[in-house]
Amino acid sequence: MEKPEITEDMILDCFAAATEGESLEGTAVSFVDVEEYENKVMYPEFARWAKKAGRPDLGRLFAKVAGEEGLHAHWLRELYTEMGTPERGDDTERAVEVLKTIRANCDALIEKNPEAVLEKALSVAVRVEQREYQDIYPRFRDQALEKNDQKSADIYQRVIDSEQQHAEWFQTALDDYRAEMAAA
Ligand SMILES: [Fe+2]
Ligand SMILES: [Fe+2]
Repeated sequence: MEKPEITEDMILDCFAAATEGESLEGTAVSFVDVEEYENKVMYPEFARWAKKAGRPDLGRLFAKVAGEEGLHAHWLRELYTEMGTPERGDDTERAVEVLKTIRANCDALIEKNPEAVLEKALSVAVRVEQREYQDIYPRFRDQALEKNDQKSADIYQRVIDSEQQHAEWFQTALDDYRAEMAAA
C-alpha cells in the first residue's frame, strides 16, 4: 500500500481567501463566507486532528480560534443585516473540496506520524493568519475608508488586530511544539 503523504501545500489549500468586491457589500459577503468557513469547517477539522494526535491542548487552541472567526463574521453581520446566508464563494468551494480529499489521507497519516501533521497544520495556520492581518484585511479596511464608511473600517481594524493575535498564538504553539519534538 502507498504510504499516505500530506504536504504543507495540501494543508495550505484548505484555506480560503476572501476577495475584495466592487462594492463594500460584495467585500463583506466574501469576508463573512470565509470567516464562517474557518469557524464551522476548517479550524474544527484541525482541532479534530490535534485531538486524534493526542494533543487536546492544541485542539483547544484551534477550537478557540474557530470561535473567534465566528465572532469576526458576527461583528460584520451587525452592519450588513440584510446579508442572509452568503453564497459560497469559488475559493471557499474549492477549499471545502480539498479538505474533503485530504481528510482520509490525514486520518491515516495521523495514525503513523501525528507530529508531522500537527506541525504542518500549525505552520500553515501562522502563514494564513499573517496573510489576513498583513495583506487581505488591511485592503478591506482601506476600501471602507475610501468609501467613507468608518464603521466598516473600524470592524476590519478590530479583525486585523485579532488575526494578528491568532498568528502570534499559533507561532508560539509551533515554537513550543518544535522544541518539545527536538527534546523528545
Ligand atoms: Fe478571522
Ligand atoms: Fe484568524
